[in-house]
Amino acid sequence: MVVYQVYPRSFADADGDGVGDLGGVAAHLDHLAWLGVDALWLSPINPSPMADGGYDVADYRGVDPAFGTVEDVERLAAAAAEHGIKLLLDVVPCHTSIEHPWFRERPELYVWSPVDGPPNNWRGTFGGPAWSEDPHGRGWYLHSFYPEQPDLDWRNPEVAREMGDVLAFWRSKGVAGFRLDALQQLLKDPELRDDPAATAPSIMNGHPEHEALEHRFSSDQPGVEAALRALRAGAGEDAFLVGEVGLPSGRHPRYLEHLDASFCFELFFAAWDAEALAAGIRAGLETGKASWVLSNHDFPRLAERIGRHHVAAAALLLLTLPGPVFLFQGDELALGNGPGRPAGAPEAPPYDRAGRDAFRHPRPWTAEAPHHGFTTGTPWLEVVTAPEGSAAEQRATPGSPARRVRDLIALRRTLDGPLEDLTVRDGVLSFRRGDHVIAVNTTDAPRPFPAAGAVVASTGDRSDGHLAAGVANVTSSV
Ligand code: NOJ
Repeated sequence: MVVYQVYPRSFADADGDGVGDLGGVAAHLDHLAWLGVDALWLSPINPSPMADGGYDVADYRGVDPAFGTVEDVERLAAAAAEHGIKLLLDVVPCHTSIEHPWFRERPELYVWSPVDGPPNNWRGTFGGPAWSEDPHGRGWYLHSFYPEQPDLDWRNPEVAREMGDVLAFWRSKGVAGFRLDALQQLLKDPELRDDPAATAPSIMNGHPEHEALEHRFSSDQPGVEAALRALRAGAGEDAFLVGEVGLPSGRHPRYLEHLDASFCFELFFAAWDAEALAAGIRAGLETGKASWVLSNHDFPRLAERIGRHHVAAAALLLLTLPGPVFLFQGDELALGNGPGRPAGAPEAPPYDRAGRDAFRHPRPWTAEAPHHGFTTGTPWLEVVTAPEGSAAEQRATPGSPARRVRDLIALRRTLDGPLEDLTVRDGVLSFRRGDHVIAVNTTDAPRPFPAAGAVVASTGDRSDGHLAAGVANVTSSV
């Protein structure tokens, strides 16, 4: 299964207001069908003050007017299904927006300090204390992320019931599954004990203040299975559920009982080095339910993290792994970061205080200046272009990043069998899937790699039993 992540604000704008919307997604379904993806995941589209790019939800059953309406979601699900593409939504069960009516009207659904002030040393993921004083004068509330995102109390069965109903609601609109946000934060220590100082970095490369602590009590508590069971019950057995569990894969099993998959962050954050990549793959394989991803809306674009010259090999590696694979919008064009929040713009919504706008720029559809087919208006952030051109240009150019991703998705359909013989030799990572051998030269020099059959995909030259610098290929013995 290949899932394509759409960041709705930056995908395509149909109504000319400079902000991407559901009409824009519908208008470009042909691109997703051309790539051959199986599913499309929309980052949050619910009404939101956008303090955290929509991950601060003010109404779980609504659609933000900037993006469209509930009817637009229904239409999009139906249109996507005509292309054989499933629609997945992002659900944020850990916290709401501080503007959600529940926060004013049903405070018992949230986590409160038992004292008049922070009861412990917990820090927010983006820095600062994880406790803030309630603007309505009811004491201090917990927020694992921004202060605008109060944490729901998953020890209150009403929360599980409400959230299960939310999933059932979207299923009734034609949605096939969900990406579930920040599951490691659902349950906290009931005694609210202090987190100890960290002795090793966490897996998520967070804010230094957050990383200074080991999140022993502020996250990942036993009993979370009940929460996941409620989400599964609401979604239905046939829904696809993938969890964002920001923990080492070894701690995923308690989350996976009721999920189809969880993201493997070891591979996501692995340096472009054969040993590190192999370790990442091994960590994911151990859960038996890994889904693989190399970039998303939270971290610098792949080209910036591993080097542009490795992007083609990364696509080949990602798309030959067994199990669900996630591509972030623009990955297929080999897009890089943009400049982020415009100079002089206030550090306020819709811009991100944690500095992630640079990874979320609108994408180019056509060569046409000034906004490359993204909008007829003024884009909320300027459109970032790729060295190899817009989607239209890349689709028409053999050997372009987009054509390569498309070819790899097609090749993926012919790969079967588990991943076997994972090997690292002299900077070359290799493994076997049935009759196919995948080999990735992660180094900047040619490396010997004995031919194992006919080359069926390659990101560059291969000759005389060598893989050229940075080249990855797939060979077939049949
Ligand atoms: C993970 C999401 O990917 C990120 O964008 C968001 O800020 C946090 N969860 C909080 O919801």
